[in-house]
Amino acid sequence: MKKYGWFILLFAVVQVRAQKFDSLALTPPMGWNSWNTFSVNIDEKLIKGIADSFVKDGLKDAGYQYLVIDDGWMAKERDAKGNLVADPVKFPNGMKSVVDYVHSKGLKFGIYNCAGNKTCGGYPGSRGHEYQDALLYASWGVDYLKYDWCNTEKLNAEGAYMTMRDALYAAGRPVVFSLCEWGENQPWKWGEKVGHLWRTTGDITNCWDCEDNHGTWSSWGVLRTVNMRKDIRQYAGPGHWNDPDMMEVGNGMTVQEDRSHFTLWCMLAAPLIMGNDLRSMTNQTREILTNKEIIAVNQDALGVQAMRYATVDSVEVWVKPLVNNEWAVCFLNLKSKTQSMDFNWQEHTITDVVANRTLDFKKETFQLRNLWTKKTSGTTAKPLQASVASHDVLVFRLSRK
Ligand code: GLA
Repeated sequence: MKKYGWFILLFAVVQVRAQKFDSLALTPPMGWNSWNTFSVNIDEKLIKGIADSFVKDGLKDAGYQYLVIDDGWMAKERDAKGNLVADPVKFPNGMKSVVDYVHSKGLKFGIYNCAGNKTCGGYPGSRGHEYQDALLYASWGVDYLKYDWCNTEKLNAEGAYMTMRDALYAAGRPVVFSLCEWGENQPWKWGEKVGHLWRTTGDITNCWDCEDNHGTWSSWGVLRTVNMRKDIRQYAGPGHWNDPDMMEVGNGMTVQEDRSHFTLWCMLAAPLIMGNDLRSMTNQTREILTNKEIIAVNQDALGVQAMRYATVDSVEVWVKPLVNNEWAVCFLNLKSKTQSMDFNWQEHTITDVVANRTLDFKKETFQLRNLWTKKTSGTTAKPLQASVASHDVLVFRLSRK
């Protein structure tokens, strides 16, 4: 017995050493979440319909994987044993059967709760029930947890999220852990060891550049959301991503704005979580969401978030290093009218201190692949002359000649 003592001790230490699940979300998670369109009005029929659309409409094929139900899935009270219960009217067959259905489509299932006593919608929160809830999710086969920050009083954010991380780890089923703390306690500074993505801002809303004031809090348009956090790109990387919130593509902006929103999320290596009704989206919306060449920029294995390199005549130039010495460059027109531009590559030497790489157009010539028209034409040897519609983008993949 004595000679096995050390092994038993080592085994015990490994068992209790809590951590996040590694090797998950090595590229930004891709999926769908119910909140932006449906708020708490979700049910079994909707979720199954969305799962069907993932497959039927080519979203699964484009790389979307996680189907996440947000707030509103629970009954207002826990049961006699303190377990969470799915709302019996919305989910008459319980949650496990919904998870099984989603898994049967080759997808993964995500769920929502909150670090506080109650969720933002007033349903039972996980505070004090973290280990119990994690076990329940594992028994249902949950693969992703979005964990919110309402009703947390004076809780310490890092500590509260670590408790849930440890609970998930102890439950033993690998779960992508999405911290939804709105950037209030700078989660980019401590989030890497806790979760796989962290919200950097408050809630997004379906407009380009507005603030929607709800009294005690506001939700923010796409551009506001992007501009709110400027210096945090160095904190993102494989397995730990800055999350500027779920997408509003297909929820009412112009096609140019939707295209720019999607492109920016791809450039920012943001989680690509769709927020529209997939069952009724237009072809135009589907084409945006399933553009594999733009998605490849988001899913690039280097995992470096783009930087805003320059703003020339209200056209922003965003640059993202990619593997194999390739780059993505995006021109975004902020004006409310079409803007013509003349960008002489040769005048620019772009250094990225995060990736530790320099793009010197005098030393190297790159071929240009337009990722929306999907045409390869021209090189960086000649100035780029183009016009960009209002709130629209031009985005290129640059590869060596
Ligand atoms: C917060 C989150 C949203 C959503 C709602 C649900 O506002 O930031 O993304 O989950 O709560 O009530």
